[in-house]
Amino acid sequence: MTKIIAANFKTNHTRKSTEEYIQSLDKKLLPSDKVYIFPTPIALCENNFKHLNIGTQNAYPIFNGAFTGEIGLQALKELNIKTILIGHSERRNILKESQEFCAEKFNFFMKEEFEIIYCVGESLCVREKGFEDVKKFIQTQFENIPIKYPKLIVAYEPIWAIGSGMSASLEQISQTHCFIKSICDAPVLYGGSVNAKNASEILNTKEVDGVLVGSASLDMESFYEIIKKAREK
Ligand code: 13P
Repeated sequence: MTKIIAANFKTNHTRKSTEEYIQSLDKKLLPSDKVYIFPTPIALCENNFKHLNIGTQNAYPIFNGAFTGEIGLQALKELNIKTILIGHSERRNILKESQEFCAEKFNFFMKEEFEIIYCVGESLCVREKGFEDVKKFIQTQFENIPIKYPKLIVAYEPIWAIGSGMSASLEQISQTHCFIKSICDAPVLYGGSVNAKNASEILNTKEVDGVLVGSASLDMESFYEIIKKAREK
């Protein structure tokens, strides 16, 4: 199976720099690549590229209405955007999104047949308690999530590995992905300090179906290096 390579720009890049990035990356891609870009809301553009897919980092579970600062389905439809990230730890922890709200969003965008990259992952404190606690914690992040949804992709992103420069070990990745795969049939991506140097071994791990990249995706050439590593698999 072709490995999925996704870039989460978080709150980085402008509308102009995103456009330049996407235009030049799309020219380098092959029909067999499976690449997603999640730009900032203000840089969202029409999803009509030859190879890459544009997704939204977030949206409110509503068609349109009085929800100041939020993006609704109507705006996404106009841009032909059909992929959404839900449950990212930055939205859960910094923006205080509850499991209940993640599930509400999931159910709303599932009814709209979006492809959903659903993020799960434990804190360092949970990881340090041992794998049984990691499993219990991840299980709670699947509460009220219809795990049989065919357009579900899971991203395992341990919080302590995000932006820390310290990726989870291959053993931790493999063990946790195995557990997630025992819960659902979806492809499972790994995210957390993936870069051009460690991408190859991470993508080589049997249970890893792709990667979700933050910092190392901000530079197009560095992200493209990761895409090239995926082609070798
Ligand atoms: P980093 O690659 O910067 O660790 O971020 C990972 C992430 O949160 C992707 O969603």
